[in-house]
Amino acid sequence: MMFKRFYTKSPSERRQILEADGARNLNDLAGIPNAEIETLDRMSENVIGAWRLPLGVVPQFTVNKKCHRIAMATEEPSVIAAVNRISKLINACQDGIHCSFDSPVTMAQISGAVSLAQANVFKQIINQNKAQWLSLANEQNPQLAELGGGAFDIQLEILPPEWNELWRETFVIFKLYVHTLDAMGANAVNTMAEALLRYIENEYVFFTPCMAIVSNASEGRLVHASIDIPFAILEEITGMPGSNFAMLIARASALADRCPERAVTHNKGILNGIIAAAIPLGQDTRAIQAAAYDYACKTGVHLPLVRWNMSSKSLHGEMHIPLPIGSVGGLRKIPAVNAAFAFDKIDNYAELCSVLASVGMTQNLGALWALTTEGIQAGHMKLHNRKGAV
Ligand code: MEV
Repeated sequence: MMFKRFYTKSPSERRQILEADGARNLNDLAGIPNAEIETLDRMSENVIGAWRLPLGVVPQFTVNKKCHRIAMATEEPSVIAAVNRISKLINACQDGIHCSFDSPVTMAQISGAVSLAQANVFKQIINQNKAQWLSLANEQNPQLAELGGGAFDIQLEILPPEWNELWRETFVIFKLYVHTLDAMGANAVNTMAEALLRYIENEYVFFTPCMAIVSNASEGRLVHASIDIPFAILEEITGMPGSNFAMLIARASALADRCPERAVTHNKGILNGIIAAAIPLGQDTRAIQAAAYDYACKTGVHLPLVRWNMSSKSLHGEMHIPLPIGSVGGLRKIPAVNAAFAFDKIDNYAELCSVLASVGMTQNLGALWALTTEGIQAGHMKLHNRKGAV
């Protein structure tokens, strides 16, 4: 009974109830200044405070000719150390890392059961009514359409009865494609998809709804990053002959290409960087990870998201990664997130994409440098040990 309507209480009332239930050390677990608690309470459910992560910084980091700062929240010190170390290489290259991004498209699936014959009827229905369905979707978010985005296509996928041994029923999946502009877009797209699901359910009695939800497979949101680091710069900063260094890195990259078990770890390091930078920027880090691993496995084999190879003069890095992220929306109501955008000198969606992709790429080069020279224990773990990790 003591937890009845717990969610309606204030954070301090929730703490009192938890203490009456025997919870101890709540300040250690979740202590924060009172001024912030109301904002946090609006952001999540049953809030009693905040969990703290150390925030480290990379003071200079050049992407598309612009010098950014990066705030990174992570408990793994070597992540920030690696980006700082490699930022010297990146900054020494004329334009830094080059980044571009595809116009972001988010897809939602609206699914339900029908008979096989009715599934084919839906092929005609969708052909005849696509424009009307898209209007209905766009009515849910007129602002997005006004800004030049919005729902622009619906495709039908049919799962024949054999797809499920147990029920043996045909499934239709309507895939709704939406230009989400500068937003991450999951909320906007989910609202559209749910409106369509309700509409289809009401309009076509033979359709039994299953669900409507965004797909985190975010291939429509690819970001591309690349850099050429001349041997002379490699030599100056690493103290190693440039071609030797490039060869170590290119070989380590080839190993990740050939060996999925290595690719998983290679990609984990990339996400170490992206997630640490994405947390202060208020991004949905789980969506980023889900999309990255899905994309890495697109061929059925886990492949590296960043690749390095060498020419006769330079080390070349290339990255392609889906980033379901946004620079506008509810996140911008959070003062700490706005402060992070300002601190990082991120002025728009393009810069958000560029910075996050570049941090991932940089992190990977830092990890490969450590792994192929002094090794993980000497370099990478030295910092871990400082905080008493085992
Ligand atoms: C550790 O968190 C990340 C690394 O394992 C990444 C890698 O192996 O490339 C160092």
